[in-house]
Amino acid sequence: MVRTSNQVDREKQLAAEAAADLVEDGMTVGLGTGSTVAFLLPALARRHRNIRCVATSPHTADLAQQLGIDVAPFTELAILDLAIDGTDQITPDGWLVKGGGAAHTREKLVAITANRFIVIADSTKPVAVLKGPIPIELLAFGLGSTLRRLGDVTLRAVPSSPDGGIIADYHGPLVNPRETAARLSGTPGLIEHGLFPPEMVTTAIIGRGDQVEVIDYRGGK
Ligand code: 5RP
Repeated sequence: MVRTSNQVDREKQLAAEAAADLVEDGMTVGLGTGSTVAFLLPALARRHRNIRCVATSPHTADLAQQLGIDVAPFTELAILDLAIDGTDQITPDGWLVKGGGAAHTREKLVAITANRFIVIADSTKPVAVLKGPIPIELLAFGLGSTLRRLGDVTLRAVPSSPDGGIIADYHGPLVNPRETAARLSGTPGLIEHGLFPPEMVTTAIIGRGDQVEVIDYRGGK
């Protein structure tokens, strides 16, 4: 079914509100990046004054702080109670492609630090099978060498990441996401890629029309 942008925004908002309901006062919370997370932040600000957050991008940090949410630097916190983030794709078994907003390196680090990782999405995000390209972040040092070894990569016309990484997209084979993820992770010069395995994901909350579908993947710690 084709959805208007208003309907999609409504689904994002419903998913974000449902995720905000999972947050409890006193929690440490990782905040993702993107238009779905933009609906989460006001929902969190309305419900909770006593949470401590880390943000996966300067944009999210700015938005959250403008709403009065406490955003701490992600240097000392070694564990988070919860992380909540959007996704570009999600398969029935819980594989994600993330990084449409180029924040996947920080997003993966925050997600892996959280006891529970909650994915929020509208109904355009579920897919039967993942499709490329896969967002990647590359070290500027040795970039030519890394690009040659990776093969089919396009550089994105966007600024470097806040950590100085070069943002690009990998167009190589994606028949088996675990094999592709292992190949990308094993490439020197590649900082991080946007394939998130199901074992990272605790729950997905998908907005569908006026309802939310909650899928429990039991990932996380
Ligand atoms: C940013 C991301 C986003 O979570 C992903 O692109 C989804 O964004 P949106 O909520 O705007 O659809 O991975 O790097």
